[in-house]
Amino acid sequence: MIYLDHHATTPCDPRVVDAMLPFLTEQFGNPHSDSHEAGRFARNAIDQSLRTIAAIVNVPPESVVVTSGATESINLALRGVMMHPRCKRPKLVICDTEHPAALEVAEDLQRQTIADGRAIEVVRVRVHPHDHSLAGQIDLDHLQELVDDQTALVCVMMANNEMGAIAPMPSVAEITHQAGALLHCDATQSVGRMQVDAKRLDIDLLTASAHKFYGPKSVGFLAVGNGNRRVRLRPQIVGGGQQRGLRGGTLNPASIVAMASALQFAMEDLTDDSKRIARLRNLLWQRLKDGVEGIEINGPDFETETTTRLAGNLNVRLQRIEGEAWMAATPEIAFSSGSACSSTEALPSHVLTAMGLSESEARRSVRFGVGRFNTEEEILSATDQLIASHRKLVG
Ligand SMILES: Cc1ncc(COP(=O)(O)O)c(C=O)c1O
Repeated sequence: MIYLDHHATTPCDPRVVDAMLPFLTEQFGNPHSDSHEAGRFARNAIDQSLRTIAAIVNVPPESVVVTSGATESINLALRGVMMHPRCKRPKLVICDTEHPAALEVAEDLQRQTIADGRAIEVVRVRVHPHDHSLAGQIDLDHLQELVDDQTALVCVMMANNEMGAIAPMPSVAEITHQAGALLHCDATQSVGRMQVDAKRLDIDLLTASAHKFYGPKSVGFLAVGNGNRRVRLRPQIVGGGQQRGLRGGTLNPASIVAMASALQFAMEDLTDDSKRIARLRNLLWQRLKDGVEGIEINGPDFETETTTRLAGNLNVRLQRIEGEAWMAATPEIAFSSGSACSSTEALPSHVLTAMGLSESEARRSVRFGVGRFNTEEEILSATDQLIASHRKLVG
């Protein structure tokens, strides 16, 4: 199999496996047992890991809360702000193209109230349509219209998991803070793939997940505050008092050490990796463009604008067949027809329809994600197979 689905997940880097293994075997102490050396050793390893993560995303070390991944981080951020006893504003503003992990939390919050009994109101911000020069980017004028003095929280992802559009976070932050609201950013596809500086971008709550940057699954973090202003969260998992009461439960030193080392390697390799990955993505597109009749790009045009699209991302639309059929006819290549979490449902991508594509166009679309361990030979072989299977299907 040739794996071209790195937005769904990435393989664990062998260097990361080496770093975590001792904590699964001889260094098994409970990091919350400070009465003996085994516990203290595990605690120190976690503290060091949290300092590494905090330095990379530029937040105070005590603001990093370890979670089971991005879905939990987003739940903690959105529910945590809106359900805090001192939250005085009932409005949550969220972008149309967020991951279901955020949209479904917002939907659920809509059935709840803030502490004073007022119903939570959720409003959705548009993105620019697919034929616009800023295709898939958040519409900042619309954001400005929606955010007001009743808004507690704005929720905008940094890089889209389906069509790779990178949001103008400084402008989003400015609009949010002018209204006195807080900003949550789902940076799941960006942390480890680009520079993410939560303080400079002025992001109050930052979500990330280790399995998107060559770490293990089911570990991530939420950075709560960047030092610029106070962020109050109501915990969602209580009991045990760990992580200053914000998220109870015994921490797993192996996965936290792995997450920190994965992030460190990702940042050390960032410049080389992103150049090489962008070159392979461009090769993938060139070959598909030449071999698949009528194929088009969904999302930002990376041939002219390299800075507004994730390096490894390619989302394309076919003229005559559905993405599902292309995937079934090319079983040796791993790619996808939408976000992994919604691909079990037969729904067209909400991200593509939010950009104004029809349901039929969305169903004729697929996503590729090129990653660290892909080679030029793999791209050549994958495109040969994809072009051949497409020819067979269109007859
Ligand atoms: C942008 C985005 N947010 C959230 C998630 C959920 O991540 P996790 O698997 O860590 O819960 C994903 C995973 O695909 C994602 O791409």
